Amino acid sequence: MKIVVIGGTGLIGSKLVAKLGDHGHEAVAAAPNTGVNSLTGEGLAEAFAGASVVVDVTNSPSFEEAAVLEFFETSTRNLLEAEAAAGVGHHVALSIVGADRVPDSGYLRAKVAQEKLITGSSIPYSIVRATQFFEFVGRIADEATEGDTVRLPPVLFQPMAADDVAAAVGRVAVAEPLNGVVEVGGPEAFRFDELVRHALTARQDPRTVVADPAAPYFGAVLSERSIVPDEGARLAATSFDDWLRDN
Ligand SMILES: NC(=O)c1ccc[n+]([C@@H]2O[C@H](COP(=O)([O-])OP(=O)(O)OC[C@H]3O[C@@H](n4cnc5c(N)ncnc54)[C@H](OP(=O)(O)O)[C@@H]3O)[C@@H](O)[C@H]2O)c1
Repeated sequence: MKIVVIGGTGLIGSKLVAKLGDHGHEAVAAAPNTGVNSLTGEGLAEAFAGASVVVDVTNSPSFEEAAVLEFFETSTRNLLEAEAAAGVGHHVALSIVGADRVPDSGYLRAKVAQEKLITGSSIPYSIVRATQFFEFVGRIADEATEGDTVRLPPVLFQPMAADDVAAAVGRVAVAEPLNGVVEVGGPEAFRFDELVRHALTARQDPRTVVADPAAPYFGAVLSERSIVPDEGARLAATSFDDWLRDN
């Protein structure tokens, strides 16, 4: 099967392209530096010729509220239009668990806008909502740092390895379209501050992590279950400690 991975050079995309190739699929890594740009439309028609599935694992270069909304809306519109013209039969997108539960986050509002365009289009689709990647924990800590203190709300947090995210997206991409949403998460739930404290300690990072219920997460105040999956989510195998040992 020809599967085009938009954002195929990124963290998830490169792992996904490798896994699909290992399973005998023709996986095409599409990104600006391979001549495919979902924002301008450049290279989409050529890339989609003969493709059965398009997987969107792009990310916005800027997380600023207006920029990220513009990125996901324009990019998704261009992809869906080019897929319709090429007769692509399955659009798969990677979104985020709880995207619709945190309206104060500009980034998550943009992911909801992306999902709305997909569900409103004529292309059969599957949306995979994943929890935060273990690889993203460092950026979360940096974003929450003031001086030598990291402030995070002690809400539930259930991150997962990028490798497991790519595997989950791959399984969905080669199956029939769900025309719905599937949630994937890590094997264990932690308190947000507890996991980040553990991660920083393991890296001998001297910052102090403080549990603060009012501390924002990328601008949004979270509640207990805002960003953890509901019952029925597919849970990945790799634990945080296993991942830490290998990374
Ligand atoms: N971080 C998390 O914890 C988390 C959790 C759940 C879901 N997600 C979602 O996972 C997705 C992938 O994240 P990631 O960390 O793998 O992203 P990433 O490593 O930043 O990769 C993004 C990819 O998108 C490509 N890209 C950027 N602009 C493009 C454009 N105009 N046209 C085509 N491709 C473009 C990039 O290519 P260049 O490098 O050449 O620019 C790169 O290949 C995102 O949609 C994010 O919302 C993230």
